[in-house]
Amino acid sequence: MASLIAVQGDITSFKVDAIVNAANESLLGDGGVDGAIHRAAGPELLEACRKLHGCPTGSAKATPGFRLSAKWIFHAVGPVWSGGAHNEDELLAGCYRKCLELALEAGARSIAFPAISTGVYRFPSERAARIAIATVRSHIEASGVQELFFVCFNEETLRIYERLLANAC
Ligand code: APR
Repeated sequence: MASLIAVQGDITSFKVDAIVNAANESLLGDGGVDGAIHRAAGPELLEACRKLHGCPTGSAKATPGFRLSAKWIFHAVGPVWSGGAHNEDELLAGCYRKCLELALEAGARSIAFPAISTGVYRFPSERAARIAIATVRSHIEASGVQELFFVCFNEETLRIYERLLANAC
């Protein structure tokens, strides 16, 4: 049975097969976790991202990890929060689902996710965490992933994940 683990930290330093980026549709980098990943992976990452020609919201695309210890980066494009009635929940779930599909294709057994959309894109943290956990619980067995980390940048987010993960469903 796969493990779901909440931890606090900087996702760029995670030693896993794949880390997930919270990108935008251009996939050309920006601030937040996206900027941190581009800085840590080096300029080759931007070159690789250019060749992907963007990505629609609710999906994700893969590149190598370059200078990261992770072998892969899955660039997921979460929705911008606009009040909750604009398909935001389903689009966010799509990011987690697609990343687990990419993990299956890449043969990644361990993966680390940031809290997609909860920074600049303003998705409410607890609502996003519920969607992340429910989606991952439904799809992890089929993905071959054995260890999945929810990497929380602050303590408040960590507490939310710890509380929700302690509930069976
Ligand atoms: N490690 C882990 N989590 C991080 C890190 C990091 N190094 N840096 C930031 N975070 C957290 C934030 O605290 C937030 O909870 O990642 C979560 C997502 O925040 P953002 O990076 O702002 O991503 P998002 O809300 O999805 O907005 C995407 O921001 O940088 C741009 O190019 C990106 O335009 C896109 C937008």
